[in-house]
Amino acid sequence: MKVFVILPAAGIGTRMAAAQPKQFLSLGGLPILIHSLRAFAAVPRVSALYVAVRETEISRVQSQITEFLPGHSHPPIHVVAGGDSRQESVSNALTALPAAPDDLVLVHDAVRPLIDAATIDRTIDAVFEYGAAIVGLPAIDTVKQVERTAHGALISSTIPREYVVLAQTPQGFRCDLLRRAFAEAAADGFVGTDEASIVERAGHSVAVVPGSAANLKITQPADLALAEFYLAQRT
Ligand code: C5P
Repeated sequence: MKVFVILPAAGIGTRMAAAQPKQFLSLGGLPILIHSLRAFAAVPRVSALYVAVRETEISRVQSQITEFLPGHSHPPIHVVAGGDSRQESVSNALTALPAAPDDLVLVHDAVRPLIDAATIDRTIDAVFEYGAAIVGLPAIDTVKQVERTAHGALISSTIPREYVVLAQTPQGFRCDLLRRAFAEAAADGFVGTDEASIVERAGHSVAVVPGSAANLKITQPADLALAEFYLAQRT
């Protein structure tokens, strides 16, 4: 059984208002994408990594990989063309994977550079046991369901915190399950914001592995400052 990793990194990152997509911004002197790649490349059970980037950025990413992940002491890293949505980017990489039905596939946001090896290992263990598992952060704030009205949001109910986790990545699945769920979503025109939502609608339950605040998704300018803080604490 092999473990493949897909890193969707083809986003444009409009919320960051930066000169380049957020996965290429510098964190502690290295591109964010390189931090994410290094985290998975250092996990012994990982067999190969597939990064999905915009067609126009393929050669830039290949040079960064040669520069920052040199040599053969890590699993092979392949760069494939992404798509117009995260789901399309993952789907393109999934098509390129030389994976057997019972191999495992982990999908990780390229813009979550501070994922740690222990969490990756726990996710792999949980996918092995349940067929599908994601990293999730228990909710700290009280969670409200709202209705959108012309005058703003109105609360319709309060969801008890113990029933809520915030989905992070990695999200891992048996390859045959993920491929079937993606095919069903494509046939139905369903677009999800994560892989778990696609697998849930295919009728498979998904386990949750505890995440951490440090595994944040870099989305807005303040997130980069927070990530620098967590990185400095780590080193
Ligand atoms: O900002 P968002 O939540 O969509 O980004 C999550 C991840 O999905 C990022 O790593 C981003 O680069 C990636 N993505 C992608 N292809 C797209 C849109 C986002 O690979 N078309």
